[in-house]
Amino acid sequence: MLNVGIIGCGKIAEVRHAPEYLENPSCNIVGFFDEIPARAESYAEKFGGKAFNTIQELLNSGVDAVSVCTSNTTHAEISIQALNAGVHVLCEKPMATTLEDCQKMVEAAERNGKFLMIGQNQRLAKAHVKARKLIESGEIGKILTFRTTFGHPGPENWTGQKNSWFFDKTKAAFGAMADLGVHKTDLIHFLTGDVITEVTAQLGTLDKKYPDGTPISVDDNAYCIYQTRGGIIGTLHVSWTFYGDEDNSTVLYGTDGVIRCYDDPKYSLIVEKRDGGRAYYILDQMTSNKEQTSGARTNTGVIDTFVNCILTNTPPAISGREVMKAMKVIFAAEESAQNGKKVTVVQD
Ligand SMILES: NC(=O)c1ccc[n+]([C@@H]2O[C@H](COP(=O)([O-])OP(=O)(O)OC[C@H]3O[C@@H](n4cnc5c(N)ncnc54)[C@H](O)[C@@H]3O)[C@@H](O)[C@H]2O)c1
Repeated sequence: MLNVGIIGCGKIAEVRHAPEYLENPSCNIVGFFDEIPARAESYAEKFGGKAFNTIQELLNSGVDAVSVCTSNTTHAEISIQALNAGVHVLCEKPMATTLEDCQKMVEAAERNGKFLMIGQNQRLAKAHVKARKLIESGEIGKILTFRTTFGHPGPENWTGQKNSWFFDKTKAAFGAMADLGVHKTDLIHFLTGDVITEVTAQLGTLDKKYPDGTPISVDDNAYCIYQTRGGIIGTLHVSWTFYGDEDNSTVLYGTDGVIRCYDDPKYSLIVEKRDGGRAYYILDQMTSNKEQTSGARTNTGVIDTFVNCILTNTPPAISGREVMKAMKVIFAAEESAQNGKKVTVVQD
């Protein structure tokens, strides 16, 4: 039995981490910590375990693993504290807010012999897993280009707070580019088996405002042109201002055909072969913010994957070291947008 704790008792802990630990028969929820004590207390009441007064108290309670579900700028410090206490960490995305912090997190995991996994759940979505297998087997030949999109009406609809911390640069550090862009950037690495090395980006604050009417201090839209080491060129568009249904689609174009992931309301995966052949798969639909905030139960598999890695002593595929490659691209996109120039990303 794995003893687990959760640090940060907000929305993602409520709809994903706590219920998915609860549903996993190999887990025992020891307790919660939040800087707002009442939140930890209410989560302990709802999901079991106890509310701790400090992070260290939670880490000293015999937990084997913790989820870090706090706002972005605190991820590195809390994850490193937990890893140094000999506890495995599942940290929410974006992994951290500087490259130095990402590196320190990876070093802390390796120094302490503990796993650091990042909550890049898009890698586990069924159509993405299937698409990866098809691409690996050569179904659409050599990938030439792609377009990937993640847009929804904004994080204030997710947390239910009009003046969301997601809009506060001191807590979020970045806007839509890091919040949504890291999901799709990491996904492109996963699907293509390649790594992005050139980035041209434009970031904008097009619509979101603070209650006093001034524009928010982080981007609400980002548009990037990516080039991989292997020469694939594609685009990423992420947005907090898609005021209709969520768009979570990725399309890959190869020499022998096209793969569409979550680009159709019915078929989560479509393969269009250059020779005219077609295959339509009904696998799952991406869990949308709308669905999760409506109280519908979904299981992303992120907790089961993390728990399984620990129980079988298998290093996570979605490790801090792996996700750092996507974080480097995010930092490069910020730099490109500021300088108006293409930025080269130094990848391992
Ligand atoms: N993987 C995904 O798809 C996904 C989806 C949503 C959010 N997230 C990530 O999860 C994290 C949390 O987001 P959320 O939507 O749950 O936000 P939220 O505001 O609902 O919850 C954050 C919680 O963390 C607490 N907190 C903040 N700083 C703390 C600290 N230093 N110590 C203890 N508690 C602290 C807050 O009091 C709050 O209860 C963010 O980094 C976000 O990017 C990931």
